[in-house]
Amino acid sequence: MTLRAVVRGVGHYLPSRVVENAEFEATLDTSDEWIRARSGIERRHFATEDDTTSSMATAAARSALEDAGLGPDDIDAIVLATSTADLTFPSAATMVQDKLGMTRGFAFDVQAVCAGFVYALANANALIVSGQAKRVIVIGAETFSKIMDWTDRSTCVLFGDGAGALVLEAQDGAGTKADRGILATDLNSDGRHRDLLYVDGGVSTGTSGYLRMQGNQVFRHAVEKLAATAQTAMERAGVTADEVDWIVPHQANIRIIQGTAKKMGIGMDKVVVTVQDHGNTSAASIPLAISVGRKNGQIKDGDLLVTEAIGGGLAWGSVVLRW
Ligand code: UT7
Repeated sequence: MTLRAVVRGVGHYLPSRVVENAEFEATLDTSDEWIRARSGIERRHFATEDDTTSSMATAAARSALEDAGLGPDDIDAIVLATSTADLTFPSAATMVQDKLGMTRGFAFDVQAVCAGFVYALANANALIVSGQAKRVIVIGAETFSKIMDWTDRSTCVLFGDGAGALVLEAQDGAGTKADRGILATDLNSDGRHRDLLYVDGGVSTGTSGYLRMQGNQVFRHAVEKLAATAQTAMERAGVTADEVDWIVPHQANIRIIQGTAKKMGIGMDKVVVTVQDHGNTSAASIPLAISVGRKNGQIKDGDLLVTEAIGGGLAWGSVVLRW
């Protein structure tokens, strides 16, 4: 018998405010055509006055709990991936714990920027397979609209807000690739590239700062590193490209998504794509895409999923799981 972290429920939350590309044309030297052609993004959701990272994360967690048929008292831990927690501390995860009315267990944030959700999944998996938690809510939630420089056309048209969540549960598997749950993980970072994508504020400046990115440099790293990490995770899981039902990539740029799938030898008909509707929601993008893909009938019971993401750090990684 092998203990596996199996998905029991999924849910997401998107703020009600939808901004189409064309809206940026009023204030920036940009166009709907440029944004679509270079990134694949058509629209994104931005937080309203009522939305914070912890409130969106809570809504996504509630939705995932409902899907799982569980309540907050059934949960042992909350692992929340975010780079835009409401406050420097306490963690957004403890705010979610309080909002859910969960008075036991433990909660913490994971900060690996756009790779945050794969890092959070890997952490939750480790908690479950080591017997430290039986059920874990894994959330990705971001309010990147709060760290946008609205005069910088090279970044502010790319990002969006939202949250997605999975409920993972310890279940016995046979220890084979046919098992449900997380089959393998791969995490990487290389701090030498930290200046390619960062926020120019924090406790050292006394400001929350704005996102700065050398997009074309990140792009160059992305396809190569994403295909490599996915390959490593697939080898660890003992699966090959032809067995993969869905790639659920980080949704930053359709050209990165296409390039990575091609390098992996997997057709775009097997890729869950939400970048056109959500933009880049950083750590929220993969759970949002999983939730949308599950609800629209793409992801079915027993399907083999490969997630992959890269972002600031640089940090990148991949998780292979069977639904
Ligand atoms: O999620 C975390 C990881 N992040 C990513 O994965 C993002 C990776 N990078 C990208 O997705 C792409 O590099 C971008 C979408 C950010 C940019 O696409 P690109 O094809 O790499 O364009 P570029 O940065 O090389 O810029 C090309 C031109 C430049 O003008 P010049 O120097 O050629 O005259 C930019 O100034 O496009 C210009 N430009 C814009 N033009 C209109 C940059 N932003 C805009 C804009 N509208 N919004």
